[in-house]
Amino acid sequence: MNHTLLGAIATLFTAGALAAEPPAAPMAPTAAAPAANPLAEEAKSLVKEFAGTLKGELEAAIKSGGPTKAVSVCQDRAPAIAKDIATRSGWEVGRVSLKTRNPQLDTPDAWEQQVLTRFDQRQAAGEPVDTMAFAEVVQIDGTKQFRFMKAIPTGEPCLACHGNAITPEVAAALDQAYPEDQARGYAVGDVRGAVSLSKTIE
Ligand code: HEC
Repeated sequence: MNHTLLGAIATLFTAGALAAEPPAAPMAPTAAAPAANPLAEEAKSLVKEFAGTLKGELEAAIKSGGPTKAVSVCQDRAPAIAKDIATRSGWEVGRVSLKTRNPQLDTPDAWEQQVLTRFDQRQAAGEPVDTMAFAEVVQIDGTKQFRFMKAIPTGEPCLACHGNAITPEVAAALDQAYPEDQARGYAVGDVRGAVSLSKTIE
């Protein structure tokens, strides 16, 4: 584990959009942003809590146990924090991507796949990824759900583990833990994935 990677972990999610101010209202690419929606506001504050907790734990882990411990925070704590927020809030919370590192956990469903594909198109059309989000009410099995997705941009620190020039040491560790890893080859500014939240409303 080298110094660059340590730095990368330290800035994990601080440089990313998760730390940035989310948009003021759910955004549809074609429609003007409607007035503030309480569910969207709640979803956005949960995204912030998720990012903030993850960042705090990563920093604490690096201080107390070095980079090895920080990598395990990446692996184990991100899903655990999402689960904890879900239990307390009643929302489903997770991370999804079109190219997953952990397919067991992060494979998008059909709706999420569509939104992620549109996020890529929006990025290709020049929209900044750090404020990109989408909200929609959908009907699933006779219940109504409010669904919200917030894009996660690829920042410079992410390249150590998701870029094109991953060191042999990191690549070997990733190969061992994630034999089906697809989450490499990203460039700065790409949509790495999204935080996805949903809540049953009726
Ligand atoms: C120290 C290596 C490391 C760095 C640096 C890193 N990641 Fe990851 N990332 C991982 C690992 C390991 C996983 C798989 C976690 C799991 O098992 O759930 C992952 C998974 C993800 C996922 C979930 C989707 C998937 O591929 O399964 C997203 C989204 C993500 N990372 C975004 C980022 C962003 C954005 C950055 C930069 C701010 C970043 N990562 C930096 C190691 C890293």
